[in-house]
Amino acid sequence: MKANSVSANEVPITVAYGDGIGPEITNATLKIITAAGARLKIEEIKVGEEVYKKGISSGIEPSAWESLRRTRVFLKAPITTPEGGGYKSLNVTIRKTLGLYANVRQCPSYYPFVSTKHPKMDVVIIRENEEDLYGGIEHRQTGDVVQCLKLISRPGSERLIRYGFEYAKRYGRRKVTCFTKDNIMKMTDGLFHKVFDEVAKEYPDIQSEHWIVDIGAAKLADKPEDFDVIVLPNLYGDILSDVAAQIAGSVGLAGSANIGDNVAMFEAIHGSAPRRAGQNVANPSGLLLAAVQMLVHIGQGEVATRVHNAWLKTIEDGIHTYDIFNPEISKKKVGTREFADAVIERLGMRPTILKPVEYPSRSDPITVRLSSRPREKKELVGVDVFLDWQGQPEELGKSLENIATGKLKLVMITNRGTKVYPDGLPETFCVDHWRCRFQASSNEKELRHEDIIDLLSKLVKSGLPPVKTEGLYTFGGVPGYSLGQGQ
Ligand code: IPM
Ligand code: MG
Repeated sequence: MKANSVSANEVPITVAYGDGIGPEITNATLKIITAAGARLKIEEIKVGEEVYKKGISSGIEPSAWESLRRTRVFLKAPITTPEGGGYKSLNVTIRKTLGLYANVRQCPSYYPFVSTKHPKMDVVIIRENEEDLYGGIEHRQTGDVVQCLKLISRPGSERLIRYGFEYAKRYGRRKVTCFTKDNIMKMTDGLFHKVFDEVAKEYPDIQSEHWIVDIGAAKLADKPEDFDVIVLPNLYGDILSDVAAQIAGSVGLAGSANIGDNVAMFEAIHGSAPRRAGQNVANPSGLLLAAVQMLVHIGQGEVATRVHNAWLKTIEDGIHTYDIFNPEISKKKVGTREFADAVIERLGMRPTILKPVEYPSRSDPITVRLSSRPREKKELVGVDVFLDWQGQPEELGKSLENIATGKLKLVMITNRGTKVYPDGLPETFCVDHWRCRFQASSNEKELRHEDIIDLLSKLVKSGLPPVKTEGLYTFGGVPGYSLGQGQ
């Protein structure tokens, strides 16, 4: 830290005011936390709409990265990603570029002051934040078919899941639940589940359980009080954190902490709500509660406690913005600025019916360490070749058998994952995207990449150029690829 830039106890943070309702809720949030005594040195950066409009398709400029890497703490209001092609989501870019792997979203009920069907719920969603379908790696391969790659890694899963258990330990939570769809995605979601089971064993004092995400989500929506901490892959976490926040009271109330080893970003879980912008109606609570998590993170726990308790007292006093206003429970409908003033008036007070919070005045951020594993022996055993082709499976199968006369033999063809050759059923609906699996018979010598190249050039010469290939490998003798449906 440069001695001349920051007075002794001020912590530098980067703030982006965002788009839509962003500036209003940021002003309200900063006003409250400053009044509560937060010691901050704010660096403002511009991200989002304004930057996209300058033609910068990432929505963020180099100087903004410098600020984020310098302060390592980011309070970010919602931003609008222009719709349509060409623009990548800035939220996702920031999370991934800065390695913010854990997205923590607390979803407690504020019953009886905010309407909910679930008075006892107190769920924390800890969402994997960098991988899964959020890689944004998409391709159109044929006239009919587009694809999105789902990437799940062992280290990515492990650090998130460890963070989930460490979080449970730190905050005295009794149970960690994992949701995946590993009855279908046996390899990707299967890896996440497997790592969960491995890590869970190291925390014998914390209960652990796994649910398939469909029934798990149904249970969460029906009886959220049965859940405590939930860890899950990125997309399920995106969807279920909105569900959890909404059934707890409102998505407008939930803040989120995006935690990495070096940098952390704090934001509301809701979007920029352009239709509500500039009218002094937006609820600043999501961003404010994110700022509370930020204060804990930077070691200003006593300020976090003051802000959070004053906010709880405001909610308890029935001072509500339009989104949670209910004539049967609320006392006064207020705008963004009036809500902020009401919280400021209550600084130093604690709620009397809702449970007050108490953060440790200083606490080290949760850190996790990855386990090390030996690399397994990786052997090439075949290739899946994807073709853009129109016709009947039998016809394609016969020509491929004639072409594949070298070491690699045609084993099967699938269409959208379902086996159509050999022995397909005429009922299976086919599009123009064929996955053709070639493998060396087991009595052949070791398969080499050159054998695959030979096959590919024969295919090209026969007028069947591949649109993509996937190597088939075994790892320590275990196949690293799934079977075709019906294989
Ligand atoms: C969220 C949002 C983001 C996400 C969008 C804005 C990219 O929905 O933070 O949950 O999908 O993660
Ligand atoms: Mg979302």
